[in-house]
Amino acid sequence: MNKAFWDEKYSTDEYVYTKDVNRFVKESLSDLAPGKMIDLAGGEGRNTVFFAEKGWQAENVDLSSVGLEKCLVLAKERAVLDKVFTTQASALVFESKLAPVDLGVCAYLQIPQADLEVAITRLVENISPGGVFFGVWHALENLEEGFGGPQDPELLPSTESMTALLSKLPLEISFVTNRDGQVQTKEGLKPSITLTAMAIKV
Ligand SMILES: C[S@@+](CC[C@H](N)C(=O)[O-])C[C@H]1O[C@@H](n2cnc3c(N)ncnc32)[C@H](O)[C@@H]1O
Repeated sequence: MNKAFWDEKYSTDEYVYTKDVNRFVKESLSDLAPGKMIDLAGGEGRNTVFFAEKGWQAENVDLSSVGLEKCLVLAKERAVLDKVFTTQASALVFESKLAPVDLGVCAYLQIPQADLEVAITRLVENISPGGVFFGVWHALENLEEGFGGPQDPELLPSTESMTALLSKLPLEISFVTNRDGQVQTKEGLKPSITLTAMAIKV
C-alpha cells in the first residue's frame, strides 16, 4: 500500500477514519502536559488535531499528501492551524520539523514488521529523553478472534513481537497489551482486538 493507494482512499469529502480522536489515544494520553508531538502516519489528522486542540504543537508525518491536506482543513475548522505542521514523507526516513518532541504517536501504521521496526526506531530517535512513545494497531490475534483490520499477518504486530521490537530501543516499556477494541458494524457490535504500547524514552 503506497502513496497512490492512500491518496486514492482519502480522495473523498468524508473523513475515512472520522474526525474523532482514536479512543485509545484519548484514554492514554489526554492528561499529558502539552509540548511538541509527532503523529507518525497521522493520515487525515484526527489525532494530530486532537493534540493541537489541547495546546500541543503537532506534526503529522504521512505519505499521503491528500491525507495531509485534509488534516490542514480539519485544523482550520477547529481553529488550530497555527499549531499543526505537516510533513509528507515515508515514516522510515522522515525529517521532523519539530524534533526533538515530547510525544511520538503511531496509530495504525500497517506496514510489514521489518519496516515498522525502522519507522518506530526513527520516531523514537525524534523523542526527547523522558518523552513518551505510544502506539496502537490491530493485533495479530484479531485475524483469528476479531473483526476488521488488515487480513495479512505481516501487517499485524502481536504483544510478543512489539515487546521484542521496543526492547531493542532506548525505552522503558510501560505496557504492551491487547485490549477489547470492539467496533460498531451494521450487524451490531463485533469483537476487535487492539494492541496498544506505551514507553518512556530513556
Ligand atoms: C490506517 S491509516 C491510519 C491513519 C491515522 N493514524 C489514524 O489513526 O486515523 C494508515 C496511514 O499510514 C500512512 N502510511 C502508510 N505507509 C506509510 C509509510 N511508509 N510512511 C508514512 N505513512 C504511511 C497512510 O498514508 C495512512 O494515512
